[in-house]
Amino acid sequence: MTGNPFKPSFGQLPPHLAGRDELLSNVRATLSAGPGRPEFTSLVLGARGTGKTVCLLAIRDEAEAAGWHVIQREALVPEAGDEVASGIAEDCLGALETIDPPPKRRLTDIGILKLLSLKWENREARPQDLQKSLSNLVEATQSEGGAGVLLIVDEFHNIRAKDASRIASALQRITKDQGKPLAFFGAGLPHIEYTLLPNKGFTFFQRCYRQDIERVNHSDAIKAVVFPLQESGVQVDTEHLKLAVAATQGYPFSLQSLGFHMWEQAGAPHNDIAAEHIDVAVELMRDEVARKVSVPTWNRLSQVDRRFLGAMAQDDGPSRSADIARRLDVDGRYVSTYRKRLLNEGVVVAADRGLLAFANPMLRDLALEHEAEAAAMEAARQRYSMKPSKPPASRCDAWMPRSEARCVRPEGHAGPHRSR
Ligand SMILES: Nc1ncnc2c1ncn2[C@@H]1O[C@H](COP(=O)(O)OP(=O)(O)OP(=O)(O)O)[C@@H](O)[C@H]1O
Ligand SMILES: [Mg+2]
Repeated sequence: MTGNPFKPSFGQLPPHLAGRDELLSNVRATLSAGPGRPEFTSLVLGARGTGKTVCLLAIRDEAEAAGWHVIQREALVPEAGDEVASGIAEDCLGALETIDPPPKRRLTDIGILKLLSLKWENREARPQDLQKSLSNLVEATQSEGGAGVLLIVDEFHNIRAKDASRIASALQRITKDQGKPLAFFGAGLPHIEYTLLPNKGFTFFQRCYRQDIERVNHSDAIKAVVFPLQESGVQVDTEHLKLAVAATQGYPFSLQSLGFHMWEQAGAPHNDIAAEHIDVAVELMRDEVARKVSVPTWNRLSQVDRRFLGAMAQDDGPSRSADIARRLDVDGRYVSTYRKRLLNEGVVVAADRGLLAFANPMLRDLALEHEAEAAAMEAARQRYSMKPSKPPASRCDAWMPRSEARCVRPEGHAGPHRSR
């Protein structure tokens, strides 16, 4: 019996990875071209839930199929003992232990001798010696006929300067100076362009190639839902489905949620999916996205961020900065400060012609609700001649994920946030 193929869970490969063919064929071409190609050391950047982790998983699968050894780590929120660079070095040591000389070759083969000596040298190596460990693994992989080593770091926006500089010097030496096949793909939130990368010690990553991950367009979004159904032999009312897919606005998590609930509602694969199943699934999808993505994101925003999003939500599509400024009764500098901040946080994305759109369309609904509540409060206040309950927030109050605190500087300030 076929189970529900859709994966409304972060970090889970979807049954059909929609709209990423170009990126993946570029990865294939890059790996086969080698270290000279700019994309050989890349940063994959995108808003929350756009599918960065699953892109890394797909890149890993492509690489493994082409004979690359993959080392994969995640930069969790910095905690004692969670050192990404040492973790990578340990993985290299572990991998070297498992690489055996190919049985068909004779022992006199120079490649085997080299491999044995690397393994021996490796036993002596300290996990702290990242460059040596990676370099040994590249050589060992090549001696046993592999293509090279691909290093993947997810949640790169959490990386500490100390780890970043150890990884950067290993990549600089092995990939850039020696031209050896050690590829790198890091993935994270776009704000690192302004928060992390301009810092000392991050020059290497600043120069990495950028692969931007965005929501998928409407026709790819339809494929994300239809292809897995076709594979399971489940029929669906395609015209009705197109309307439902439009409600996801190509947000990858919503697509998985929609597919998942349609399947459950219909009792697929035994039954086909009808219009009424799709309608219920759209509602369930909206609830699920609100609960798991939009509400937690909304709760981390400051009052000013929320008012900004409220001003954007008055447009049916992407918003112009001038309209936002007029609605908030503020100047262009103020708008550009908040525009940049919300872009960095991955809450909004830049659309065509400098317009601004919601990264997750469900946040727009929350912003509208918030505006409606504020308007109702204001009407009640006027009717009963109540004083405003609280003066408008004068503090910036932005959430700073790295220090897990809110900014104490005044609203609309220039320059970086500060917690003290
Ligand atoms: N191209 C795609 N086509 C269909 N579904 C996708 C696609 N990309 C991601 N998804 C689905 O969207 C959800 C989010 O994916 P993923 O965990 O990779 O996002 P992310 O960008 O890494 O999120 P975060 O920023 O929180 O780490 C998952 O349910 C995944 O299966
Ligand atoms: Mg992720």
